[in-house]
Amino acid sequence: MLREYGLYIDGQWRAARGGETFPVHNPATGEVVGQVADARAEDALDAVEAATRAFPEWASRPAKERSEILRRAYDLMVAHRDELAEIMTREQGKPLEEARGEVQYAADFILWYSEEAKRVYGEAIPASHADKRLLALRQPVGVVAAITPWNFPAAMITRKIGPALAAGCTVIVKPAEQTPLTACRLVDLFEEAGLPAGVLNLVATTQPQAVGDALLADARVRKLTFTGSTEVGKILMRKAADTVKRISLELGGHAPFLVFEDADIERAAREVAASKFRNAGQTCVCTNRVYVHESIADTFTAALADVVRGLKMGNGLEPGVQIGPLIDGAAAEKVDRHVQDAVDKGATLVLGGRRHSDVDRGVHFFEPTILANVQDDSVILHEETFGPVVPVQVFRTEEEAVAKANGTPYGLAAYLYTRDLSRAIRVSEQLEYGIVGVNDGLPSVAQAPFGGVKESGLGREGGKYGIEEYLEVKYVSIRL
Ligand code: SIN
Repeated sequence: MLREYGLYIDGQWRAARGGETFPVHNPATGEVVGQVADARAEDALDAVEAATRAFPEWASRPAKERSEILRRAYDLMVAHRDELAEIMTREQGKPLEEARGEVQYAADFILWYSEEAKRVYGEAIPASHADKRLLALRQPVGVVAAITPWNFPAAMITRKIGPALAAGCTVIVKPAEQTPLTACRLVDLFEEAGLPAGVLNLVATTQPQAVGDALLADARVRKLTFTGSTEVGKILMRKAADTVKRISLELGGHAPFLVFEDADIERAAREVAASKFRNAGQTCVCTNRVYVHESIADTFTAALADVVRGLKMGNGLEPGVQIGPLIDGAAAEKVDRHVQDAVDKGATLVLGGRRHSDVDRGVHFFEPTILANVQDDSVILHEETFGPVVPVQVFRTEEEAVAKANGTPYGLAAYLYTRDLSRAIRVSEQLEYGIVGVNDGLPSVAQAPFGGVKESGLGREGGKYGIEEYLEVKYVSIRL
């Protein structure tokens, strides 16, 4: 079924001013699954205008009303979970079961923030004079530009718009050009939930730089929230400086997974696989490097190979498929380059290692791959792979493991497996990361803070922390 969408601006679906549209492809088959209006800078400015106009009324609504609309949007997302999941699998490629899981994860942010909307409290501060009253109010930052990635077409949107709308901000979403259909259907549901015109706007585009520049240059946009690569995040950060926008950046990761000698090896192997192969390795928090104690390295690698050998690769719409396609040819080339480089430098290919590309149809799969004896200078130990490859290296001491884990400019997620409670606490404290999974390869949930340190980003999304990113503190001093 071909889905067609316009831009959503000021409560209306409409064509792009230039009349252009672009096709959306299924990365598992190459077929066109949708056609979407292609925004330019002038469309982005229309969206800014609409969001600016809608802001005062939305911001001044009682929190209870904003909460009720978000709650209805949550209910609609859950009611349409299978439909949303199928759209997602068709445009992004992840297996249908995983897509269903993402829709629920995405809806959970809306539920959480429908509740949190009612808890944006201020403070009364003790004054130094009897005739004064001092208040700290928390108010919405204003118009928000949300630039979202293709790897989680629903959850990376709701993790931003949930807290933004709850706080009283209005939003312009620019979804990734590879996956705009899930975003459009979500916007449909928010409209059905009763969101007023202009509060949520959507501009999909094949010209992300021009549209991004227009949003960033506009002083009416008071906040940028972005999920994507560190490279692009740095550019956006520089551009946001010209109008001193608030920014939240959720950028690249290079997650280490430490397996200590006292770990439950079978469980650790299953957890590495769960973390690594979620979304075919195309997540910022997925394991990118495994460091295992030398005394258990062979047993662990064999256990991991047993789990990975059973994974079925294919079209995510087919039953039983666990590894979908990579998003495009550039992604497949990067994965291939990382594997070849590691093997050229002496790594042992334990499993997989082959790319299956049909260049004419634009379809690219990569076999789930395990590399052992990976050498220190291998690119895969220094760059984010964003694909289904596990490089394994050994360590001898806890200090060495922590040093290897921290030896990167990234700091998003890290994992460790151990049965020793003291070590679990000690190592989690030493890891320079925003998220640490102890015996847990899948820590992401709506109520917890998600975000990185170092070059992995700024700010936190999720939980009670996420809404702070969309609030300003105003100090009011009253003389009686
Ligand atoms: C991401 O890859 O950016 C998000 C992953 C998650 O929310 O778990």
